[in-house]
Amino acid sequence: MKRLEKLYEGKAKIIYATEDPDLVIQYFKDDATANDGIKKGTIVDKGVINNQVSTRIFQYLEEKGVATHYVEQLNDREMLVKSLEIIPVEVVFRNVAAGSLCKRLGIEEAKHLDPPIQEFFLKDDPLHDPMINESHIKTFEWATEKEVAFLKASGSKVNQLLEEFFKARGIRLVDFKLEYGRHKGEVLLGDEISPDGCRLWDLETGEKMDKDRFRFNLGSVEEKYQEVYKLVCGEGV
Ligand code: TMP
Ligand code: ASP
Repeated sequence: MKRLEKLYEGKAKIIYATEDPDLVIQYFKDDATANDGIKKGTIVDKGVINNQVSTRIFQYLEEKGVATHYVEQLNDREMLVKSLEIIPVEVVFRNVAAGSLCKRLGIEEAKHLDPPIQEFFLKDDPLHDPMINESHIKTFEWATEKEVAFLKASGSKVNQLLEEFFKARGIRLVDFKLEYGRHKGEVLLGDEISPDGCRLWDLETGEKMDKDRFRFNLGSVEEKYQEVYKLVCGEGV
């Protein structure tokens, strides 16, 4: 599939057009940002790892009946995906307390959350991705009522599937963010599923294996991304 013009450049990925208007190429960069882009850096080989990890996970989710934008992995850093009209709502699921939940509500980190917590955030960097609810989504028409119901049901299924997937690989799925988009009348899971957008802790030791190592300068960032890659894909990069 030939890569044509750049359509969009985000913080961690670039989207390129192809000859087929229904398909685009998602290119994974090594660039890493945190705190709404205030902290900037590079995680060596992150793009390669996130492409492979996302590929493996999208394939797994498709096998389990979740419709995603994934078509095929083209090379180390590029994935062919269906073009989406992105729904500007980030869908977050939390199985264990961490991150903004602890800050916002004074909850102790690592508390098990039963039932899991589901939150919506507006995908808007200048506004710092504020937390929103279904009422905001409906009034401002970011998604229809039917789509919101779908995001909640699909997200919950993805949470159960990913929890099982990571647990079998010695990883605790703490929380994660999903993005969805519209494609030919269907809502598909988009973006990526990788240590950038998931909190992943070692099941035995509780050690952090995700982007929190970069966000909070915990060190061994590349090593932990490589470890996740090996556990998810079963080989070295
Ligand atoms: P939070 O605790 O900062 O709200 O993050 C919840 C989950 O969502 C965590 O796994 C990281 C992910 N996330 C992103 O992927 N992108 C973002 O911009 C933010 C704020 C969180
Ligand atoms: N990706 C977001 C940013 O760059 C936030 C984060 O992942 O911490 O600001």
